[in-house]
Amino acid sequence: MCGIVGYIGTKKASPILINGLIRLEYRGYDSAGISTIEKDGLSIMKDKGRVNNLYNLPGIDDLEGTIGIAHTRWATHGKPSKENSHPHMDNSKAFSVVHNGIIENYNELKKFLTDNGYTFYSQTDTEVIPNLIHYYYEKDNTNDDNKFLKAVKNACLDLKGSFALEVICKDFPENMIVVRKDSPLVIGKGNGENYVSSDIPAILSFTKDFYLLNDLEFVILSKNDAKFYDKDLNMIEKETKTIEWNASSAEKDGFEDFMLKEIYEQPTAIRETIGSKLNENSKCEFDELNFTKEYLNSINKIYIIACGTAMHAGLVAKNVMEKLCKIQTEVDIASEFRYREPLVDKNTLSIFISQSGETADTIAALKLCKEKGAKTIAISNVIGSSITREAHYSIYTHAGPEIAVASTKAYTSQVVLLTLLAIYFAEILGNSKDIIENLKKDILDLPKKVDETLKDSEIIKNFAKKVYQEHDIFFLGRGIDETVARESALKLKEISYIHADSYPAGELKHGPIALIEKDITVIGIMTDPKLVDKTVSNIQEVISRGAKTLIVTNQKIDSKMFDLVIKIPETNAFISPILSVIPLQLFAYYISKEKGLDVDKPRNLAKSVTVE
Ligand code: F6R
Repeated sequence: MCGIVGYIGTKKASPILINGLIRLEYRGYDSAGISTIEKDGLSIMKDKGRVNNLYNLPGIDDLEGTIGIAHTRWATHGKPSKENSHPHMDNSKAFSVVHNGIIENYNELKKFLTDNGYTFYSQTDTEVIPNLIHYYYEKDNTNDDNKFLKAVKNACLDLKGSFALEVICKDFPENMIVVRKDSPLVIGKGNGENYVSSDIPAILSFTKDFYLLNDLEFVILSKNDAKFYDKDLNMIEKETKTIEWNASSAEKDGFEDFMLKEIYEQPTAIRETIGSKLNENSKCEFDELNFTKEYLNSINKIYIIACGTAMHAGLVAKNVMEKLCKIQTEVDIASEFRYREPLVDKNTLSIFISQSGETADTIAALKLCKEKGAKTIAISNVIGSSITREAHYSIYTHAGPEIAVASTKAYTSQVVLLTLLAIYFAEILGNSKDIIENLKKDILDLPKKVDETLKDSEIIKNFAKKVYQEHDIFFLGRGIDETVARESALKLKEISYIHADSYPAGELKHGPIALIEKDITVIGIMTDPKLVDKTVSNIQEVISRGAKTLIVTNQKIDSKMFDLVIKIPETNAFISPILSVIPLQLFAYYISKEKGLDVDKPRNLAKSVTVE
């Protein structure tokens, strides 16, 4: 949550910072602000609301500073307001700070600082940081070059919680200090300039060379240099990492919204994810893992842990893991898993899925599994993200940057990668050879079939026009289709604000059917030949109570029974969610558009949930 950007170089900082903030707005859009060092000292401009409000502030074009920090906020402590907007300054106006994360002990620090004569003007946790830096700065009687760094370091060691910080100081107009702990931050290396950002895509148009920071590594940036220090302020060496993403992949490329673009990028995302692990007539290769048959035989349980859509990808994978590998597989929500003393030991394999790689609960669950001795695998879409640096092993989806808050291409790529992982395990174990051979063919055919599925968008758009004013929509499915029902309901509610719920179709008559009344919309997903007749019967139960029905299926059913049937290509039941979810992603998208909502930035949400 919250996005931060920084620039130090020879150009005017403010347009670069605002450009970066626009790209990071998906991380929060309650307020935006920038601080630059001008000839007469530190300047701050900020406002409630979106970056556009900041951009339109009188005087913003007059900023000349070539060093600056910026922030777009997702409110945690204190309501969205100008006073609570970042950057925040200390009382003497010597330091300016932007912060992403949460300071858990801010009340205690606030009391300490108040007792020492400091005054607070906002309700944020962040405001303690510049004042604490000032406190240590003033206490230091030396005049050495590292005085600024020492003050930031001392302040950070007092902070409990998570933070990614950028700090500038009026006494050090040539430097910016950055540090992170449990919140994301990258440094982009330019030519005679350096950039800072919460994520890579925001500054990808300026550079492809990045420094990735570990927890409590401090950096002094100047326009030509980046000096790195550990928490004891010993200097450390750092190499840059070149990121292969294309800058245009972080742009809309002619699509109206990022979400629509990302839905249409699924054939490529899936093709690239498959290509990284599987070729025709070959074994699945996961060189990063190098697991032996002996190790896989020793596993007592696989845990797949994630949040939201990533967790739904895990639910799809449970099926294929258990069937192919014959290992019990449990799927858990990270924020629940952590607090229920899970039975994990050295024979447990734990897999964590996170598109952003920055989700606080998922990272904390991973740390817990590590403490209990389990092997951990992170599945992420972002190279070098925090989760990949915590896990024993990391594997990547190749979906490219996902900017829209609602996840689409990351989900389908996660399902593909997890299926390939299950095949990799099963091949080592020597299990399920016949199933695997056919499954691999179906996986290799997926990009073509996803393309075909995307062609139905007009029919879905028209159906969305008929139902966009409804208040409740239900999604039903059985088996693997039930996982798609969950994902589709989540997609609809998050971007259309329509109440959407999903149920296993067979559970309907045990309670939820009481909600069905005339003209309500029910969406059924039916791709498993074993279950299709049963699901049809369940849908009949709602039709006879007056429901309108949309069906997504690859089976032969009597279309006349339903208001609309979307036919998708046939494929192996293990991977059918990759196709059946697509019409329902489009359905959610078109409903949101009909309602005139901001599809890419739904209210109250942020792309990367870096607070617990
Ligand atoms: C929904 C959505 C969220 C994320 C969840 C986990 O469309 O995007 O539910 O899936 O916040 O995020 P990551 O995968 O970044 O850990």
